[in-house]
Amino acid sequence: MSFTVAIDGPAAAGKGTISKAIAFDFGFAHLDTGLLYRAVGALVAEGKDPILAARELKPSDLERGGLRTMGAGQAASRVAAIPEVRAALVDFQRSFARKEGGAVLDGRDIGTVICPQAEVKLFVTASPEVRAHRRWLEVGGDEAEVLAQVKERDRRDSDRATAPLIPADDATIIDTSFMSIDDAVAKASALIREAIRKMNN
Ligand code: C5P
Repeated sequence: MSFTVAIDGPAAAGKGTISKAIAFDFGFAHLDTGLLYRAVGALVAEGKDPILAARELKPSDLERGGLRTMGAGQAASRVAAIPEVRAALVDFQRSFARKEGGAVLDGRDIGTVICPQAEVKLFVTASPEVRAHRRWLEVGGDEAEVLAQVKERDRRDSDRATAPLIPADDATIIDTSFMSIDDAVAKASALIREAIRKMNN
C-alpha cells in the first residue's frame, strides 16, 4: 500500500517535528525535502554549479555536517528558486512518496507540485514572530536578526516563480502559533486516521 502525507509550510512552523512524530506513530518513511536543497546550497558554496549539484546529488551529500544552520537555510532558499534545480529533485521525491508502507514528506511544494495526489495534505504555519522566537531559542544570538532572516526566507520562498510557498487548495491549515506540538500532532494524526479509514472502506 502506498499512502502519502504532504506537509508544507514556512521555516520553524513545526512541520519537521510533526512529520517525525507522524512517521513514527504510523510507521511511515520520512523525507525532509529541505535537506535536499540545503545540500545543494552547501555544494554551491564550495564552488559547484547548482544545476549539476542537484542532478548529481548523492545520499552521502545529505549526511554532511552544518546543513541545519540558518546560513545553510538561506543558501538553500537561493538555489531553490532555480527551476532546473527543482526539476532535478522531482523524481527522487516522487518515488520516495510512493514507497510501500506509506511516506511523509515535508517541504514547501509537496502538496502543490511534488504530490498533488497525496492522500493527506497539511499546511503547517505560525506567525513570523513566533517562528523567529522558536528558532532563536535554538540558535541564540540577536532575536531581531533571526526575525529578519525568517522574513527574508519567507519572502524568497513565497515570491519565487516556480513552486512558491502556498497551501494547496485542499490542504488543511494547522496554525501552531498558539498550539502545543502535542495538539498539532494529534490534529494531524486524526486527519490521517480518517483518510486511512476512507481508503479502506
Ligand atoms: O525546510 P527547510 O528550512 O530545511 O528548507 C530550506 C529551504 O529549502 C527553504 O527555505 C526553501 O527555499 C527550500 N525548500 C523548497 N522546497 C521544499 C523544501 C525546501 O524550496 N520542498
